[in-house]
Amino acid sequence: MDTLLIKGGKSLRGTVKISGAKNAALPILASTILSRGTSIIHNVPQLSDVDVIVQILSSLGVAVHRRSDQALVCCVNEETSYAAPSELVKKMRASICVLGPLLAKRKKARIAFPGGCVIGDRPIDLHLKGMEALGAHVQVENNHIELTAQKLNGNSIYLGSSFGSTVLGTANVMMAAVLARGKTTIKNAACEPEVEELAKFLNKMGAQISGIGSRTLIIEGVDELRGTEHRIISDRIEAGTFMIAAAMTRGSVELLNANPLYLQSIITTLKKMGTVIVEESNRIVVEGKDNYLPVSIETTPYPGFPTDLQAQLTSMLTIIPGVSCVTEKIYPHRFAYVKELLKMGACIEQKKASVYIEGIKTLKGTTVFASDLRASAALVLAGLVAVGETQIKQIHHIQRGYENLQVKLSYLGADINYK
Ligand code: EPU
Repeated sequence: MDTLLIKGGKSLRGTVKISGAKNAALPILASTILSRGTSIIHNVPQLSDVDVIVQILSSLGVAVHRRSDQALVCCVNEETSYAAPSELVKKMRASICVLGPLLAKRKKARIAFPGGCVIGDRPIDLHLKGMEALGAHVQVENNHIELTAQKLNGNSIYLGSSFGSTVLGTANVMMAAVLARGKTTIKNAACEPEVEELAKFLNKMGAQISGIGSRTLIIEGVDELRGTEHRIISDRIEAGTFMIAAAMTRGSVELLNANPLYLQSIITTLKKMGTVIVEESNRIVVEGKDNYLPVSIETTPYPGFPTDLQAQLTSMLTIIPGVSCVTEKIYPHRFAYVKELLKMGACIEQKKASVYIEGIKTLKGTTVFASDLRASAALVLAGLVAVGETQIKQIHHIQRGYENLQVKLSYLGADINYK
């Protein structure tokens, strides 16, 4: 079951319902540590990354169960544990988002360094800088970080690196600051919709956060938070992946539960290339074309073109006549999938953090290896248009971020099966 077999050449047609956003669900689930009582969270996708955060929460005294309507019910039963199990933390970088909640609520947090991964270096210096600014004592030993603070105090914190703002860093500092004494200002905050979503959730629990969705977040600390009920927004990266799949296979796909407001950069890019896209409040229709134009894009923080769609767009550009260029500004090494596309006949040259793609007529099916989540998606897209059969090995990565991808694509007419 760790291989996907795709027989390429089918245009995708029909309707697909986009799942809840993984990157909104993970920090929101972590934030339940901050509250007393029970929270009910709807539209949480069934993914292996969600399983990991649920296991971490269970080990930290938060009982989580999935109801028959798919909502996750989270209830804090015990508040003495403060150390996240290393074997789970190492499975997923987003485990780092228990740091802020543990520190703020339990005065102590211990976590292993989440470790590097194939998309490049992923330091956590900004998370730690933020916690220190709030008054935490940070100790690093044996590849673990331990933070302590009897009481956190609000402060003014600039969170930024040469790669821009930090999504989970903003989430972590915001989650710590909601229970700090006084006012915290986060400057250069990430304004990704998932960060906005976390802030709204925290406010529902009783936090006082303003400036939501902007580069400056102002947080007035409160004494305690209560459980609440919330519905997770739809996954803009899953939606973007299906939009590219529809355009690339010259198909016609209606996406339900997809908010075009959060997808403007990909919509603009696909339209510039010649795709016809209809946008409604929670519905997008993508009509593929026979002829597309090449394009040049660079990935930047929201509302720019998302790094999480970089590999998928590059995959599409391999079959668009002319020369396209894709520059990665957030993770300059996020090109592990390129050598796999080359095996399929793609014509791609990498120069530092840019790839130049000369479109060819058709890719050819072969055996390729998935290295990470979005690389897997890029290879699936390539397989959908390749001549013959593509075998994608190590496909387990896809289950980290795409709910039922094989089923959804089959329903749209793709010939795709697990082996
Ligand atoms: N950075 C630092 N220091 C830090 C934190 C980040 O230098 O302390 C740098 C990173 O190395 C990177 C840039 O800042 O160059 C942005 O990283 P960011 O912190 O924003 O990434 P993240 O919060 O760890 C989230 C998503 C990623 C997504 C990035 C960028 C989650 C769970 N993960 O990661 O999603 O690529 O933001 O948008 O929200 C994915 O879903 O496939 C995925 C990797």
